[in-house]
Amino acid sequence: MAKQNIYDNETFFTEYSKLREREVNANNLFELPTLFRMLPELQGKTVLDLGCGTGERCIDYLDRGAVEVTGVDISEKMLNVARSKNSDPRITYLNMPMEDIGAIDRRFDVVISSLALHYVEDFPGVVKNVFKLLNEDGIFLFSQEHPLATCHSGTGDRWTRDENGIKLYANIANYCVEGQKDSTWFVEGVLRYHRMFSTIVNTLTDNGFTILRMEEPYPTDEIIRKYPEYYDNYHKPDFLFVKAAK
Ligand SMILES: C[S@@+](CC[C@H](N)C(=O)[O-])C[C@H]1O[C@@H](n2cnc3c(N)ncnc32)[C@H](O)[C@@H]1O
Repeated sequence: MAKQNIYDNETFFTEYSKLREREVNANNLFELPTLFRMLPELQGKTVLDLGCGTGERCIDYLDRGAVEVTGVDISEKMLNVARSKNSDPRITYLNMPMEDIGAIDRRFDVVISSLALHYVEDFPGVVKNVFKLLNEDGIFLFSQEHPLATCHSGTGDRWTRDENGIKLYANIANYCVEGQKDSTWFVEGVLRYHRMFSTIVNTLTDNGFTILRMEEPYPTDEIIRKYPEYYDNYHKPDFLFVKAAK
């Protein structure tokens, strides 16, 4: 199955890095606060971070008491930043696609993945391996692009707007057509994999997980007052979070 490494594309990497450096972005406003709120107890735990990127979360997990963190990422560019800016003797960074984690010969208490699984075609394969890699009662927590965001065809405006350009509603099409969606995000030809909400849930439960909680973060009133442009997340959330137990 296809494994795309778009974060090693020079233009994509530069533009993505600029976006994450901005203080105000959807990650900082809703993704991270939700991730932190949903984290299980990490004191004394071993953690595997799938799609760890530049490693900031690996440091956060140590700060929250984890004893050891393994960060896996397909992108050498992202890991270069992780190794230079976010290294620690208790962190091991592995340059590998998460589709290959079955080769890791050890177990973890917690597996976390932040905004990476929508790049993976073989979701059932990754879920099976996560289940195998978790200790008994282990926790799998992930965020991904929301299924209402990944179903966009990649062409045309994503929004219907009024005469002032205000977003009225999202243009959703082919929600029930799963699989690869080509999109343009900084560069053309960024591949994401669309799965229906039911497919995500059923893949987890069919592979032995118990769903503990799901969240679809949206801005607080205070965020809307400061950054009204994020009102669009009331029409269509950007992110889906799932927390599941082995
Ligand atoms: C949106 S970034 C998120 C990075 C980090 N988790 C964070 O939240 O800051 C997505 C990351 O997933 C990685 N990625 C994409 N496909 C992957 C795959 N098949 N295996 C491992 N990592 C992958 C990318 O290289 C990138 O670093």
